[in-house]
Amino acid sequence: MSEQVQLERVQVGAADDLPEGSQTEVKVGGQSVVVVNYEGQYYALKNNCTHKDFPLVGGDVDNGRITCEKHGARFELATGKAKALPAVKPVKIFRTEVEDGVVYVLPL
Ligand code: FES
Repeated sequence: MSEQVQLERVQVGAADDLPEGSQTEVKVGGQSVVVVNYEGQYYALKNNCTHKDFPLVGGDVDNGRITCEKHGARFELATGKAKALPAVKPVKIFRTEVEDGVVYVLPL
């Protein structure tokens, strides 16, 4: 594995430690990113609600969406699109990949 690849992606942790329904937070390029395992798929979004910047980590996840606990905005995990007010702007998303049982986040 080249050093360049190491720099480009950020290790989240072992997939075994990130079971379905779990969430965690990592730093990618100085930004906080929330990583969610929803129905066996990993999703990564910038950990800032686009309404008032509240962290999204820990918010309820259902129907493929994460809810901001502050005022109830919802964002689609797969696209970052705002699906419920008061947020209207999408949240930035990141790519995820699993290699050899380890989960990574990559800039999109
Ligand atoms: S800060 Fe997230 S809905 Fe207001």
